[in-house]
Amino acid sequence: MAEKLTYLCFFLLLLYRVKPQDDARPLLDEFSGGFSAAGNNMSLDGVAGVDNNGVLRVTDFSANSLGHGFYSNPIQFKNSSGEVMSFSTSFAFAIIPQPGIQGGDGMAFAISPVKGIPGGDSGSYIGLFNATNNGNSSNHILAVEFDTFNNVQYGEPDGNHIAIDINSISSTKSTPVMQFKGNDTNGIPLNLTSGQVIQAWIDYNSPTNQLDIRLSTDSAKPTSVLLSSKVNLSEILNESMYIGFSAATGLAASSHCILGWSFNVNGDAKSLNLAQLPKLQLPTTASTGTKKNRRGLIVGVSVSCALAVILLTASSFYVVRRKKMADVVEDWEHDIVPHRLPYEELNKATRGFKEKELIGSGGFGRVYKGILPNSGTQVAVKRISQHSKQGLQEFVSEVASIGRLRHRNLVQLVGWCRRQSDLLLVYDFMPNGSLDKYLFDEQPKTILSWEQRFRIIKGVASGLLYLHEEWEQVVVHRDIKAGNVLLDSEFNARLSDFGLAKLYEHGSNPSTTRVVGTLGYMAPELTRTSKPTTRSDVFAFGALLLEVVCGRRPINPTASSEELILLVDCVWENWTVGAVLDVVDPRMEGKFDEDEALLVLKLGLICSNYEAEARPTMRLVVRYLEGELALQEEVVVPNKRKGDGVGLTVEFEDYSQSIPTTSSVYDVYGRSAVGR
Ligand SMILES: *[C@@H]1O[C@H](CO)[C@@H](O)[C@H](O)[C@H]1NC(C)=O
Ligand SMILES: *[C@@H]1O[C@H](CO)[C@@H](O)[C@H](O)[C@H]1NC(C)=O
Ligand SMILES: *[C@@H]1O[C@H](CO)[C@@H](O)[C@H](O)[C@H]1NC(C)=O
Ligand SMILES: *[C@@H]1O[C@H](CO)[C@@H](O)[C@H](O)[C@H]1NC(C)=O
Ligand SMILES: *[C@@H]1O[C@H](CO)[C@@H](O)[C@H](O)[C@H]1NC(C)=O
Ligand SMILES: *[C@@H]1O[C@H](CO)[C@@H](O)[C@H](O)[C@H]1NC(C)=O
Ligand SMILES: *[C@@H]1O[C@H](CO)[C@@H](O)[C@H](O)[C@H]1NC(C)=O
Ligand SMILES: *[C@@H]1O[C@H](CO)[C@@H](O)[C@H](O)[C@H]1NC(C)=O
Repeated sequence: MAEKLTYLCFFLLLLYRVKPQDDARPLLDEFSGGFSAAGNNMSLDGVAGVDNNGVLRVTDFSANSLGHGFYSNPIQFKNSSGEVMSFSTSFAFAIIPQPGIQGGDGMAFAISPVKGIPGGDSGSYIGLFNATNNGNSSNHILAVEFDTFNNVQYGEPDGNHIAIDINSISSTKSTPVMQFKGNDTNGIPLNLTSGQVIQAWIDYNSPTNQLDIRLSTDSAKPTSVLLSSKVNLSEILNESMYIGFSAATGLAASSHCILGWSFNVNGDAKSLNLAQLPKLQLPTTASTGTKKNRRGLIVGVSVSCALAVILLTASSFYVVRRKKMADVVEDWEHDIVPHRLPYEELNKATRGFKEKELIGSGGFGRVYKGILPNSGTQVAVKRISQHSKQGLQEFVSEVASIGRLRHRNLVQLVGWCRRQSDLLLVYDFMPNGSLDKYLFDEQPKTILSWEQRFRIIKGVASGLLYLHEEWEQVVVHRDIKAGNVLLDSEFNARLSDFGLAKLYEHGSNPSTTRVVGTLGYMAPELTRTSKPTTRSDVFAFGALLLEVVCGRRPINPTASSEELILLVDCVWENWTVGAVLDVVDPRMEGKFDEDEALLVLKLGLICSNYEAEARPTMRLVVRYLEGELALQEEVVVPNKRKGDGVGLTVEFEDYSQSIPTTSSVYDVYGRSAVGR
């Protein structure tokens, strides 16, 4: 109560200070000429900063980062009768893409109940939301986003749009970016990531509930509205709110700059005179040199100049690199999305690829732990060697495409590098290693509890669903197994090595058909068709489900002929005699949720069906796991396997011919048995 009173007094004081009889009462115009003088009244977090010229740089070129720049004082949005008042804001911004890389994620003007949006995530959440709170009406966040990345999973139209977000990154309304000039009614296409200074006007009219957004590269407010929507903000905004900017980068980065800002309640905000704004400087790059020593070299340049400099730097960057480091860079590579890292940096990060830093090795190469010298981030560097020159271009574009996959249950590819015949892939480091260690080691570091196991299962399912159905292309993982499920610091599951199997083929002789996969996880139809499908991934996922519950490998190669070789048979046998819970990993000492364990075992059996068509899709699997659909007892049908012609032993031998038996070596970053 006392707090509210203080705010109210503060507000009244402000109104008083700015002459109440004046129609256009600029509640906040101290930033209309930039942020330098007023830096103290902005509260910044993440990578946000105000540069010497007075430009608020919400993000720089660092990958996977975010920044917030909020006005430090709260703003009163409701009047004494509790109704939302009209408000208006205008600001000038510029989005400068990192040289040679397409776009970052975008930025937003946001109204939030707390300063700076503490729970916001980088990447596609652009610092506003996270996977947990996205869509929750308790967020009380209204944002207008300037989105430069096409997130198909949120139904976005393209990688250059503006939208209204209410409590969720899935926008209520969006439109491709256009600008209008003066009284013109014809829109002119506008590129957000062109580095131009763009002015935006956002006006909310409370009697009509109308929210209008305009854009122009001029100082004058255009008549035509670009995006207009009716929204009743009374339930969304609290009485006292904070206003500011949020921006984020993912694999690709852009520097999101705000050059000037004005805001007003119950009156129009002052339009900014673009000629009087601070000049943009070339931002620092995360991958070249530390912030400090780069800042010293920077010269103030105008926007057009800045772009010229960017191009120049980019080209000299590559020329120098080509000579000095002998990285092989070809023209088409310049357009590739994921961060291309200098070889020197990776060499330094892994201390010259020292044996001591080796954390795994397998079919695809060796994996080293490293610390990037500039940012200090821990990474896993996978070194893939012996590539034939043929197919290299496909290889790299494939890297680019898998690099654009983003999901909380996928290990993020943060960069790559090519030198001679080596290809280096750089991933987020997963401190808890791979799932198989916890399931199959005689003496694992920790025994995973049921809660952890169930969360891991749901995580893998969600990641796989994204690969199969939620991305722009269908991605078949082809090598789902415990060794390819990595665990982050909180034991959340992250799938690794997606797309790699396919990548590997690009470098191989096309006349030999490779059967890719791992014994025990390979769907039976693969030996017939050698065509991996989403259904064969589901088969492998089924094997994984059973393993996680039972704590055993899908095959037991040392089993005597009377013992059951396949885990699925063992579970099925117990199922038929009504004692399926007997297979649950005894190391949990009976501490598990019986309903959940039963659900997972049933799902495991269904997914392991020998008939590909009888297996559920990942979307169904996720719905079962989330309890949205109940799994009927009769769904579990026996596998047609024994004595029906599709002989287990025959296929087993088929596998062992095409794949070296590898059960003894399981490593941190996934060993893929690739038939050679
Ligand atoms: C911060 O805001 C207050 C109130 O609007 C203003 O009086 C003060 O000058 C501002 N401080 C700075 C450093 O600009
Ligand atoms: C509060 O705002 C609403 C909508 O603008 C208006 O109708 C009402 O009269 C205002 N109440 C007061 C006490 O100013
Ligand atoms: C915003 O308002 C809602 C309900 O009106 C309340 O539950 C919530 O705590 C408020 N948030 C803040 C940060 O004051
Ligand atoms: C998501 O954001 C909320 C704040 O809205 C925060 O409490 C929560 O910890 C965040 N969750 C994650 C997983 O970051
Ligand atoms: C929304 O967030 C609140 C508070 O963080 C939480 O109690 C509630 O369960 C969440 N609702 C949903 C549907 O996730
Ligand atoms: C736009 O129209 C208004 C009134 O119709 C007029 O006053 C103004 O001068 C026009 N602006 C331009 C740039 O033509
Ligand atoms: C926008 O401009 C950037 C940088 O000049 C360019 O890379 C990109 O292709 C442009 N996007 C569109 C949609 O024209
Ligand atoms: C907005 O919604 C609230 C209730 O949710 C209602 O009381 C109010 O009249 C609405 N305002 C307008 C302008 O429609």
